[in-house]
Amino acid sequence: MNPARPHVLVSRAIFPEIIDRLAQHFDVEANQADELWPRDEFIRRLQGKQGVFTTGGERIDADVLKACPGLKICANMAVGYNNFDVPAMTAAGVLATNAPGVLTETTADMGFALLMAAARRVTESEHFLRAGKWDRWAYDMMIGQDVFGSTLGILGMGRIGQAVARRGALGFGMNVIYHNRSRLPEAEEAAVKARYVGKQELLQTADHLVLVVPYSAESHHSIGAAELALMKPTATLVNIARGGIVDDVALAKALRERRLAAAGLDVFEGEPRVHPDLLACSNVVLTPHIGSATVPTRKAMANLAADNLIGYLTGGKPVTPLNPEVMG
Ligand code: GLV
Repeated sequence: MNPARPHVLVSRAIFPEIIDRLAQHFDVEANQADELWPRDEFIRRLQGKQGVFTTGGERIDADVLKACPGLKICANMAVGYNNFDVPAMTAAGVLATNAPGVLTETTADMGFALLMAAARRVTESEHFLRAGKWDRWAYDMMIGQDVFGSTLGILGMGRIGQAVARRGALGFGMNVIYHNRSRLPEAEEAAVKARYVGKQELLQTADHLVLVVPYSAESHHSIGAAELALMKPTATLVNIARGGIVDDVALAKALRERRLAAAGLDVFEGEPRVHPDLLACSNVVLTPHIGSATVPTRKAMANLAADNLIGYLTGGKPVTPLNPEVMG
């Protein structure tokens, strides 16, 4: 180890070119074998490091910060940062960065892919066909719901929510309604052709509801049995945000009882485990948290996390800081 260079831990396997980039500036401990380190091992490896490249699954909280007093920056290769206790990081003088912007369109595409697949029963149809069950035409075989011209509801209207709205309004002639903690300025609403409504109206009116809110104590189970009961029985629900926003057990019950037509889920409470009740439902499309998973986007996210580490540890200038106040 070169004591003059900052030491950086990369917690999971990543594009080799990113390791090469980091190695130009730092002594890097990488994990290209992609071992899933238990938390105590992660903490042990982080001790003596000034920076860490995280991928969204590693919790950085007061215990980690206390055990790693030399830590200066945690760079998340994800736009969501619910794995970071930002107030604790700020109190410890540790910079937090995330990877916003670069995955917006790719994740919005995934939202639409799930919406289309759920509403038009694409994966269910494929399973039916592969199982050799397709032996005739039938007027109601795999009959689903229209997307074009329907009402698209969006919960959460940040960058990704707006990108989903644009797809709906401009590409699919949808009537777009949204609910968010704060209403968008009028010009931004007009740009994405979306109308602000209360949460109850959103739930009751949407033909397709896409969730794009960040996970927090406030958004935990914000779609549960009561909210699902307000939705149309013909509606679809799509979650491309975070597991835990939806009560998965309540959703599985609503899907099973056909009180909700279909769902498309990329994120799950307790992932990578998926609740068995959801696995047992045929009217849900399930994907393993791949919203941002295209080659250009994953490379852009990884480079942005690397930019943050390099910018901060070599010149005090991170690109996307979450708690810039620690820089004084
Ligand atoms: C992915 O889930 C992200 O937050 O970037």
